Amino acid sequence: MSLSAGEMRQKVLEIIAPWKGRRGGLIPILQALQGLMGYVAEPAVKIVSEELKIPMSEIYGVATFYAQFHLTPRGRHIIRVCRGTACHVRGSLKILEAVKEQTGCPENGTTEDLRFSLEPVACLGACGLAPVMLVDSQTFGRLTPEGVSGILAQFV
Ligand code: FES
Repeated sequence: MSLSAGEMRQKVLEIIAPWKGRRGGLIPILQALQGLMGYVAEPAVKIVSEELKIPMSEIYGVATFYAQFHLTPRGRHIIRVCRGTACHVRGSLKILEAVKEQTGCPENGTTEDLRFSLEPVACLGACGLAPVMLVDSQTFGRLTPEGVSGILAQFV
């Protein structure tokens, strides 16, 4: 979601309003900020810090503790390539390399055009289909490096 600075400030103030003068709201606030912008953006954290009188370091301490929070923008599509044992044995490293080559996306990073984020992950629970990757919520199994580009083309 693309917001002007003024719109962003207004939305952040709405998010934190119920937590003024109360403690314990950081996690729901961070969840709401991420829902608003797709990640926990620094300007929003600054507003929370000033308004709730919580040091930025404390907010970032919470945000970095939980894997669910992202501090940088993420791609529109999240590619998760399984690197579990069954997938590894069946060539998942080549799948990962093919995804990196075709998207230009680094591992645990995001393409500049914000089309893709790429995350190698442990077992996705579909070992019978190894090697497996997940794009958003869709599972693709019995992958070959040659088949990767056709799959990724579906996600623009
Ligand atoms: S090891 Fe890849 S799905 Fe289980």
